[in-house]
Amino acid sequence: MKTVFIAGNWKSNKNTIEASNWLFQFNEKYQISNVRWDNVSIVLFVPFTLLSVLKQEIDRLGLPIQLGAQNVSPFSDGAYTGEISARMVKEFASWVTIGHSERRTHFGEREDMLMQKVSEAKKEKLKIVYGVPDSHAPIPSGVDVVAYEPPSAIGAGKTAEDPKTANTVIDEIKRKHNISEETLMIYGGSVSVDNIASFVAQLLIDGILSGRASLDPESFFYLIQSASTAL
Ligand code: PGA
Repeated sequence: MKTVFIAGNWKSNKNTIEASNWLFQFNEKYQISNVRWDNVSIVLFVPFTLLSVLKQEIDRLGLPIQLGAQNVSPFSDGAYTGEISARMVKEFASWVTIGHSERRTHFGEREDMLMQKVSEAKKEKLKIVYGVPDSHAPIPSGVDVVAYEPPSAIGAGKTAEDPKTANTVIDEIKRKHNISEETLMIYGGSVSVDNIASFVAQLLIDGILSGRASLDPESFFYLIQSASTAL
């Protein structure tokens, strides 16, 4: 049976109180519904400031959610004011996302820096979701998940790509970059409860990355539930 990889990306949202409330509501829904999510793998990418509190709460509640950071320093520990090294991330999270379209666009992150970040993350054995905007962008070797996210589909007011087109581009990415069979391929950009089933039904799409729909605990719950029952 296919396991679906579901990533939530909170981007630059929520303080600790809001994050705890989210978890409380998500947990309530999860407990009451008595769902079985054996065929999904869930990772929540949150701001650095929330990693500690969320880790404690997720462990305490025993929720099937893994944590990820949304960024990592291209350097190891040292004199790099404002940076969070992979070793610091590893204390709280097992995942990191690198190469997201918003990092490339708003923070000028280029291929050489992205490569350095991947190398730092790998040194600490962090698992990596690597974002690419198309089939041309280079993909460093050894990443665990490749997220194809067309910039035209990311964010509020945008429309998701047609699932069949996403599947075709993912096919191109796999061929062009010689992606190994163990590497998961996911789609991101305006995924919602209404369209998630048609994405995960595609042959080459192993999961999704969701921004907006992950911010609300109920919609994230239903996103997971739809993916889990769509298979
Ligand atoms: P979105 O964001 O689901 O709000 O379009 C996707 C993403 O984080 O890439």
